Amino acid sequence: MLHINQPFIHHNNKTPNRKLKQFISVDDVPDIDHLINTGLQYKADPFRDQTLGARKRIGCLFLNPSMRTRLSTQIAAQNLGMEAVVFNVGNEGWALEFEEEAIMSGNTVEHVKDAAPIFGKYFDILAIRTFPSLKNRDDDYSELYIKQFIKYAGIPVVSLESATLHPLQSLTDLITINETFKPATPGRKPKIVLSWAPHVKPLPQCVANSFAQWINRWGQADFVITHPEDYELNEDFTRGAHITHNQDEALKDADYVYVKNWSTYNDYGKIYESDPQWMLTNKKLEQTNNARVMHCLPVRRNVELSDEILDGPNSLVTQEAGNRVWAAQAVLSEILRNNG
Ligand code: CP
Repeated sequence: MLHINQPFIHHNNKTPNRKLKQFISVDDVPDIDHLINTGLQYKADPFRDQTLGARKRIGCLFLNPSMRTRLSTQIAAQNLGMEAVVFNVGNEGWALEFEEEAIMSGNTVEHVKDAAPIFGKYFDILAIRTFPSLKNRDDDYSELYIKQFIKYAGIPVVSLESATLHPLQSLTDLITINETFKPATPGRKPKIVLSWAPHVKPLPQCVANSFAQWINRWGQADFVITHPEDYELNEDFTRGAHITHNQDEALKDADYVYVKNWSTYNDYGKIYESDPQWMLTNKKLEQTNNARVMHCLPVRRNVELSDEILDGPNSLVTQEAGNRVWAAQAVLSEILRNNG
């Protein structure tokens, strides 16, 4: 585990001679430990680089709702001396078209090919939130929306959550695990469990995909994913994790339980299972190593997670959400340095 001022340990999550220039997935990150450490340094001293982004502007475009991502990204930018401009495109902008060669005789008013270069003139960094439709898996997993912004904006793009991934959340989660894991035996790896939870409506797989992708690439945990049958995620993200349908087996001796609902991937975007037995309770937590409980929020109380867990001493959810600022600040600072 990394701590502030601790020399970097070299793991295989590093790609020497590459720089972070955009932030769409873990594949853009040359050194995960460095990014975690940068986030922790900003947490200790938020204004250490308060002029790094002077006279620079970030445009934060939201095609979908947000609280944490929107506010933490604005605060992170301001801590670096940047101006942050938020635009709720989904509610307040012209309806955008993303398909190439579209005949725009329907509801879309402006093509991303025309809009994105204008954002490129107004801003130095473009940050975007989109969600999947959950109707067509190939369309969602093609990541058309964010790819079109990358193609046409001509400036660095940061994902504020896309159709399949939420990398700022995952970096936050690793920052939170790094700052809280204090093993009695130095060098012991944490056991981290990603546990599916019930929900009343079909949700994207983004947070679960991204968490799995980052924990696997980080490579410093015993990583287990547990979910009901037929809730398998895309193997591109989960490969390397132990996957079980037995939640009790997964929870045994866990140090962290990351709770999240997702809809089905194979028969795309469905709810097959809403068994309340999958909701984490204090009784279930007794099987763990006094595990800390994480969730990206927002959370449906007493559906996804019980009051007793959320209001109890094992919950990390508020600390985790607070750390969104430091993850965003670490990413923006690297992009500012590398795109000078
Ligand atoms: N966790 C998260 O992304 O929260 P918001 O949807 O409120 O931004």
